[in-house]
Amino acid sequence: MLTSCLMAVAIASTATAFTPPGAQPVSTKNLTVAFGNTLAINGMNLPRDATGSAPSLGTAEKLTGTYAILMVDLDIPPAMEGGATSQLLHWMQTGLESANTSTTIAGTKVFELVNPSKASPVAAYRQPNPPNRNPVSHRYTQFLVNTTGNTAALASLTQAGATIRNFSAANVIKSAGVDVAAGNWFNVTNANATGAGTNGASQTNSTSQAAAGGAVRMTGNSGAALAGLWLLVAAVAIL
Ligand SMILES: *[C@@H]1O[C@H](CO)[C@@H](O)[C@H](O)[C@H]1NC(C)=O
Ligand SMILES: *[C@@H]1O[C@H](CO)[C@@H](O)[C@H](O)[C@H]1NC(C)=O
Ligand SMILES: *[C@@H]1O[C@H](CO)[C@@H](O)[C@H](O)[C@H]1NC(C)=O
Ligand SMILES: *[C@@H]1O[C@H](CO)[C@@H](O)[C@H](O)[C@H]1NC(C)=O
Ligand SMILES: *[C@@H]1O[C@H](CO)[C@@H](O)[C@H](O)[C@H]1NC(C)=O
Ligand SMILES: *[C@@H]1O[C@H](CO)[C@@H](O)[C@H](O)[C@H]1NC(C)=O
Ligand SMILES: *[C@@H]1O[C@H](CO)[C@@H](O)[C@H](O)[C@H]1NC(C)=O
Repeated sequence: MLTSCLMAVAIASTATAFTPPGAQPVSTKNLTVAFGNTLAINGMNLPRDATGSAPSLGTAEKLTGTYAILMVDLDIPPAMEGGATSQLLHWMQTGLESANTSTTIAGTKVFELVNPSKASPVAAYRQPNPPNRNPVSHRYTQFLVNTTGNTAALASLTQAGATIRNFSAANVIKSAGVDVAAGNWFNVTNANATGAGTNGASQTNSTSQAAAGGAVRMTGNSGAALAGLWLLVAAVAIL
């Protein structure tokens, strides 16, 4: 009885979150994200080629006020195998407002978020580029935050957005004191990774990935030199 109640609560909470399971902050409001005619919602897998320039954003209802979008990769591989993943800020744009009339983007009727004041991006859009290292599927997460009339929040976000590496969506949004009005995420998987596909076959097989990674590193003559190179590559990789 208790178990089934807990399960019902668990199912209900996963059903209403539009941010990835376990990610912070959680959004229970739906942000529509599309690259041209390709929807990028509900964690769906997108081919990297579809993600070349910043997506269109919209909401089912017209929002009052001014908003900022943060797009964060939650799955940056650790510099050293076995380390923790980190986050990278892929895009931060302020000055967004709902259009006055609805439009249809990728077959979905929305009030598109536009940039009428032509505010410069705090962090220019950076295309997803997951490397062939675990985790090979990355969750690109969008948080639409409410900055209406809040110059202190804008200053806080602008300062945080100056550093894209080792980002913390939870800390940055909390420090700015802004509400998340809507959220979304999509996946991009490294095209060379085992099991990678463009239509849902993203199940990462960490056993075979670890083996593949090991095999790559074994092809060199000097293990130590190669390990050093591996760290250097990890350090300079733009993800
Ligand atoms: C998200 O919102 C759009 C409209 O903005 C709607 O058409 C779509 O069905 C929603 N998706 C989910 C999973 O609720
Ligand atoms: C919506 O209409 C109002 C009133 O005409 C105008 O002030 C505002 O700039 C419009 N918003 C957008 C995003 O075009
Ligand atoms: C997206 O990637 C995550 C993390 O790798 C994975 O758990 C999830 O199953 C993927 N989503 C889809 C729809 O394949
Ligand atoms: C954003 O903040 C403004 C000002 O407080 C408020 O009027 C508006 O309703 C908020 N937007 C949402 C989606 O709650
Ligand atoms: C990343 O940021 C956290 C605090 O959010 C800090 O403790 C950690 O040392 C940072 N890591 C690196 C590699 O800069
Ligand atoms: C896939 O592997 C080929 C050959 O090693 C390489 O040239 C290409 O950049 C890789 N693509 C990705 C997306 O990692
Ligand atoms: C993962 O890959 C390994 C090695 O190819 C294989 O033995 C194992 O069955 C795979 N596991 C899954 C869950 O596909």
